[in-house]
Amino acid sequence: MKKILVTRKLLQSNEERLKKLYDVKLNSNDELYSQNKLVEMSEGCDGILSALTDKLDEETINELPHSIKILSNFAVGFGNIDLEAAKKRGIAVTNTPEVLTDATAEIGILLILGACRRAAEGIEGARSSNWKWSADYLIGKQLTGSRLGILGMGRIGKKIAKIAKSLGMIIHYHNRSKLSSDQENGAIYQKDLKSLMSVSDVLSVCCPASKETVNMINKETLEFLPKGAVVTNVARGDIVDDDALIDALNRRKVYAVGLDVYKGEPNLNPGYLKHKSAFILPHLGSATKETRTAMANLAIDNLEEFFKSGNCKNKVN
Ligand code: GLV
Repeated sequence: MKKILVTRKLLQSNEERLKKLYDVKLNSNDELYSQNKLVEMSEGCDGILSALTDKLDEETINELPHSIKILSNFAVGFGNIDLEAAKKRGIAVTNTPEVLTDATAEIGILLILGACRRAAEGIEGARSSNWKWSADYLIGKQLTGSRLGILGMGRIGKKIAKIAKSLGMIIHYHNRSKLSSDQENGAIYQKDLKSLMSVSDVLSVCCPASKETVNMINKETLEFLPKGAVVTNVARGDIVDDDALIDALNRRKVYAVGLDVYKGEPNLNPGYLKHKSAFILPHLGSATKETRTAMANLAIDNLEEFFKSGNCKNKVN
């Protein structure tokens, strides 16, 4: 029987399935393992079912025991793993695409709505009974007729585009390559980030974190936005230069932000906390029972496929 280290506590049905298939080391206290502890815990294991909170950088990967053949990441993103380092060590890395598209797109829409319609201020006012209706109380930005710029028109970007279109938004997008008109579904292609930013009343960051996208939203690129634009990020914190975005909020270049992901999670740049116009969530993208169950099942399927065939359709390195 193969031995698997599961770095974070999973939903009960997923842990039950794992117990039937493998000799598993579960993390019943859901302790956040340090890199050293993770290496120590993986001793004698054939694979690791990792989470986005595990920093599997080059140094950590190089210290993993030789018995480790697969890192099955419980996430669609894999910015927490050095893919090259894993490849050099002959370790396969897999992810969980598709199953979390709908749940994450829902949060992407919530960020847009929350930031545009001043939900953070509204919740605070309602909870403290410190409000009174008036014709100009908490006037926000209407989505109908606004232009939504989607950076990264993958599965999640497309789903956000579909919902936003039904809300009356006009969709623009930028991708490495233009999609077929079928896939575009009426969205307008912008050939570079600059042209996307310049037509974005609302920006939705949906692209994966990679060496190319780190700090893509920065001091220079933010300047291309129309004044008073809204910036939302449902992808990864690493894509945004926080100081530049907070500065843009301070200068009212940016009207509001909607964020679910942060550099250095769970800590976030305290500059955001000073802004009532920051609608912030604690990385809830895939957080529904259906989706978390399906993600863990896919991470387990990936282990199964890999141990049976030596390969896996969701291998990313
Ligand atoms: C969630 O953020 C994921 O990448 O799965």
